[in-house]
Amino acid sequence: GIDISDLLEKTGTITLDLGYKNTGATKSAITFLDGDKGILRYRGYSIEELAEKSNFLEVAHLLIFGELPTQQQYNKFSHDIKTHTLVHEDIKKILDGFPSTAHPMGVLASLFCSQTAFYPESLDPNRSAEGVYLSIVRSLAKMPTFAAWAYKNAVGHPVNYPDNKLDYCARFLKMVFALPAEDYEVDPVVADALDKLLILHADHEQNCSTSTVRIVGSSKASIYSSISAGINALWGPLHGGANQEVIVMLENIKKDGGDTEKWINKAKDKNSGFRLMGFGHRVYKNFDPRAKIIKKAADDVLKKLGVNDPVLEIAQKLEEAALKDPYFVERKLYPNVDFYSGIIYRALGIPVDMFTVMFAMGRLPGWIAQWKEMRENKEPIGRPRQIYTGATLRPYTEITKR
Ligand code: ACO
Repeated sequence: GIDISDLLEKTGTITLDLGYKNTGATKSAITFLDGDKGILRYRGYSIEELAEKSNFLEVAHLLIFGELPTQQQYNKFSHDIKTHTLVHEDIKKILDGFPSTAHPMGVLASLFCSQTAFYPESLDPNRSAEGVYLSIVRSLAKMPTFAAWAYKNAVGHPVNYPDNKLDYCARFLKMVFALPAEDYEVDPVVADALDKLLILHADHEQNCSTSTVRIVGSSKASIYSSISAGINALWGPLHGGANQEVIVMLENIKKDGGDTEKWINKAKDKNSGFRLMGFGHRVYKNFDPRAKIIKKAADDVLKKLGVNDPVLEIAQKLEEAALKDPYFVERKLYPNVDFYSGIIYRALGIPVDMFTVMFAMGRLPGWIAQWKEMRENKEPIGRPRQIYTGATLRPYTEITKR
């Protein structure tokens, strides 16, 4: 890409690029992505290697601070996060205000945003590095608690407090699944699978939610408000909400007798208003590297847990048929990260309404890293231009004469 911002300013030119398909909004050293070659790297490390060898907290450290942590740094980071896993007791009052029909993403966005009120020092745009570190640690620490509590609200069960003897993912799973008066042991297969999924979702450069975090943050809003805006952006079915829609679609195909051809034809019909959920990506035009890893992980997890999910078979049939169909081939529409993640979440026992919440938990380090980079680069406030297409000057008409 070339930087033409000076030229545009000098010549008074406005570019129109709906959906910012070819417009860079920032320079970033966090995530490298080559959509044609299917490459994704966090701070120079390939997603394949990180998914195989690293863990979520290590990846969070890498994204946010630029380097994989030493053992000492890791111990401190992990300890600091554990210190802040409890949320203020008054959060329960906010939670009680939601009906049980509230979607967990709406609850999560609200609870996260409320942190600005509980920690008003986060409103200070000139916060010290220590202050910023504290709000980063608080964000990572409290996210699983908020996410689990959003779930408990939906099912009408009492909330669980975080068990700090457990690691990040196991702690979350226990808060979600443990019931009063019943023993609950976290299955390490489940915790490991979740950890891998979170790594795969941890950053993806300037997507809709991340750009939202940067643009809200550019007004010097607090980190909690900026990230809460990102959670809301992620909720939409064309972004993170797609993982929930994929399972809904696969179940509908199953109920409909498993006729994948019929559903593919529906997706090709522009008048149907239906798209094959989990297919297509704004930047990956040959394959989504995360989808490859997830597909294999889905096979492994289902085998390890002894789950036989007929929906996986439908997913595989759908993928095979779509990849042979000229409509999908010509438009370079391949399964994206969301196509198989829902199948794993289902096997782990995570309810469908929670799928996008899981995505938000994974994306959190990316949002934090991008917010921090935007702040450190002292980027100007985000303020796109427009091409005006409305009426020219007209005189005001009194209401009685209209
Ligand atoms: N099913 C059927 N047709 C599709 C699909 C699909 N899933 N995706 C794109 N197309 C078609 C469009 O109708 C369009 O056809 P046309 O050229 O004949 O008009 C062409 O492919 C290009 O599509 P655009 O919408 O212009 O592509 P864009 O880059 O804007 O959209 C997006 C990408 C939003 C991901 C799109 O492919 C989509 O809606 N997919 C389904 C939802 C989904 O899975 N979202 C998750 C994205 S990944 C993530 O957020 C982690």
